[in-house]
Amino acid sequence: MVAKTLQEFDVELDKLHMRGQWQYDRLLEQVIGGPKPAGVPYVWKWEEVYPKLVEACDIIPESYTARRNFSFLNPGLERGGTTHTLLIGMQMIKPGELAWAHRHTIAALRFVVRGNERVYTVVDGEVCPMHAYDLILTPRWSWHDHHNESDHPAIWVDVLDLPFVIGLNVPFYEPYPGDRQQVRRSSEAEYIQARTGALRPTWERPKERHLPLRYPWVDAEAQLKRLAKLEGSPYDGIALEYVNPINGGPAMPTLSCWIQMLRPGEETKSHRQTSSAVYFVVRGEGKTIVNDEELEWKQHDTFCVPNWAWHRHVNRSRSDEAILFSVHDIPMLQAFDLYYEEPENSIRARPAPLVPPVPEKSEK
Ligand SMILES: [Fe+2]
Ligand SMILES: [Fe+2]
Repeated sequence: MVAKTLQEFDVELDKLHMRGQWQYDRLLEQVIGGPKPAGVPYVWKWEEVYPKLVEACDIIPESYTARRNFSFLNPGLERGGTTHTLLIGMQMIKPGELAWAHRHTIAALRFVVRGNERVYTVVDGEVCPMHAYDLILTPRWSWHDHHNESDHPAIWVDVLDLPFVIGLNVPFYEPYPGDRQQVRRSSEAEYIQARTGALRPTWERPKERHLPLRYPWVDAEAQLKRLAKLEGSPYDGIALEYVNPINGGPAMPTLSCWIQMLRPGEETKSHRQTSSAVYFVVRGEGKTIVNDEELEWKQHDTFCVPNWAWHRHVNRSRSDEAILFSVHDIPMLQAFDLYYEEPENSIRARPAPLVPPVPEKSEK
């Protein structure tokens, strides 16, 4: 009997929907040397995005779509997405318009670019006003609709964990029966948001997840200013995380939201993380160097940093601070012990300040 060649044997296995591990040389090549960044670093310039949003208001009538939104797609990703796990985009809503209510298993958030008191999102019955640079969460499977009852167009950034949810193949979606959801009209005392501060009802067990939260810009900006004189992170400057106020964890189970200040002339050290991130420039101008590529950014630009790519930030101005809002997929990785960083872990690496030493009593 003539012995089969390995090639013939592989063909036989293939017909039976099996494959020998010896055929995985190419896979091994991918694994050796660690992750290859998924996608490329890229900037979406406000000066190119904004005119297209204005144009979309003319071309797409309100009745035609529930969401007049652009997704920012990474030119290096075949499957879509801004990074392999995150999708960022921008949306514009004209005066008098309503983006009707729905819910989905994709978690989302809004970071407002242009808004005012009469622009608001309703999340699970709670009204969240949208002022410039407020952050509003629409957690997984929460009802949400957006309203512009003002005389000015409103614009915001949308960030979703869509590529992650699609990757796990769990995309559920449901439209609300009607344009707008029921609002908790009786009193704000019924709001979940009224139960997440430092003073909470003693008679209730707090809701811990899927909180319909609004993080006002006035609070974020005040806290950045308060902490601006600290050394901060060598890799991110004064980077603050919007946390879940009940459990202290990330704002949403998959998404970590940050606001960071790069002080005038600040240049951070380079690092790389197994997480990826999307950034929106609140104000200032500078650049983020990702591997060999320089991403030049200024106010209202959006950019992405793929996973495991070396990166550092530079505030080009000698007189003005730069402020960046960003969303990271760090919680997805931490949940499975897959978060790594080089050259060192910079997240929660240092202890909080100690109680000042008590001076010895002087003898009199
Ligand atoms: Fe939605
Ligand atoms: Fe980073």
